[in-house]
Amino acid sequence: MSAVRDVLSRPLRDLRVSVTDRCNFRCPYCMPREVFGQAYRFLSKPEILSFVEIARSVSAMCRLGVRKVRLTGGEPLLRRELPVLVGLLATVDGLQDLALTTNGLLLAPLAQALKNAGLHRVTVSLDALDDDVFRRLSGADRPVANVLQGIGAARTAGLPVKINCVVQRGINEEQILPLAAWCREENHTLRFIEYMDVGNHNRWHVSSVVPVGEIRERLEASYPLVAVGDAPRGEVARRFRFADGTGEVGFVSSITEPFCRDCNRARLTADGKLVTCLFAHGGHDLKSQLRAGASVDDLAGFIESVWKQREDRYSELRSEGREQRGKVEMSYVGG
Ligand SMILES: C[S@@+](CC[C@H](N)C(=O)[O-])C[C@H]1O[C@@H](n2cnc3c(N)ncnc32)[C@H](O)[C@@H]1O
Ligand code: SF4
Repeated sequence: MSAVRDVLSRPLRDLRVSVTDRCNFRCPYCMPREVFGQAYRFLSKPEILSFVEIARSVSAMCRLGVRKVRLTGGEPLLRRELPVLVGLLATVDGLQDLALTTNGLLLAPLAQALKNAGLHRVTVSLDALDDDVFRRLSGADRPVANVLQGIGAARTAGLPVKINCVVQRGINEEQILPLAAWCREENHTLRFIEYMDVGNHNRWHVSSVVPVGEIRERLEASYPLVAVGDAPRGEVARRFRFADGTGEVGFVSSITEPFCRDCNRARLTADGKLVTCLFAHGGHDLKSQLRAGASVDDLAGFIESVWKQREDRYSELRSEGREQRGKVEMSYVGG
C-alpha cells in the first residue's frame, strides 16, 4: 500500500509509541534528577492512553502506511502488563515490525512474555559496561549486571537484540571499545548515537557531542570496518560490518549529518498526542478524538491531514543556526 506523504514527499512508515512518561533511571542527558525529581508532575493514569486506545491509533496509522512500531517511553517496561499491549498490536493489519526500546533493567522477568505476545525484537540502551560510569550515566544506583541479565534473557527468549550507546565527550568515550568488544563477543548489533539537544533540561552543548566520524576512527584503530550496502529509506544508522566478519555496528549522526529529508517517523506520546518531529514543541491531540468515540477511519482522516501538512526539518535548521524554540521532553515523546 502506498503511504500518505508530507509536504517534502516523505512517506509515513515508522511510529514510536511512548507508553509512559515515567522512568526508573535518571539519565542526565534525558531526565536529569534535579528536574525530574520528587516535585516533577508526571502524567496521571487517566491522562495516559489505554492499551485499546493505543491499538486503535496504531491501526489508523497502519492504514496510512506505517509498517514499523517501536514501543518506548520513559521506560516502557514500567507500564503494567505491557505484553497485553504487544499482543493487541501484533494483530494490527499491515504492521510488519514490532520492536521495543528499553533501558533493560526490568527485561529479565518480562522477555519471554513479550516474545510470546508477538514482539519481534528489542533495543537496549547501554552507554557503559563499567559500573561507575554506568551509575553516573543512568542516575540510578544499580549495577550494569542487571541490564546484562535482561539482555541475556531476551536472547534466550529468541528476541534479536540491538544495543544503543549515546556517546558524550569526557563521560563515556572510553567505553566505546569495551562495548564494541562485548557486542562482538555476544553477537549483538551495536549503534553509536550522537548526543542530541532533545528536551530543555540536559544543558546540551555542542562541545559534549562526539561526532560519529571520531567514534568510527576510534573503533577502526582496533577493528577495521566495511560499509554495508545501501540502507532502506528512513534507516537512520550508517551500517558497517566488522571486517573479520564478527558482527555489525552502526552510527547515527543526528547532529553532524542530519537526516531530516528521509525522516518517515511519527510519534505518539503517552497522553495521546501525535508528534511529527523529535524536536517538535507540541503535538496534535488524538486522545480527545479517541475518547469522543472517533472511528479508526475518522482517526486516519485526522492523522492524514496532519501528515500532509508536515514540513519539520529541525535538525537541518539547527545546523544552519536557524532553530531556537522550546521542545518536548525525550521521555514524553519517546526518543
Ligand atoms: C528516551 S529513551 C526511552 C526508552 C528507554 N527508557 C531507553 O532508555 O532505552 C530512548 C532512547 O533515547 C536515547 N536518548 C535519550 N536522551 C538522548 C539524548 N540527549 N541524545 C541522544 N539520545 C538520547 C536513549 O539513550 C535511548 O536509547
Ligand atoms: S534515556 Fe531512557 S532510561 Fe534514561 S532517563 Fe531517558 S527514558 Fe529513562
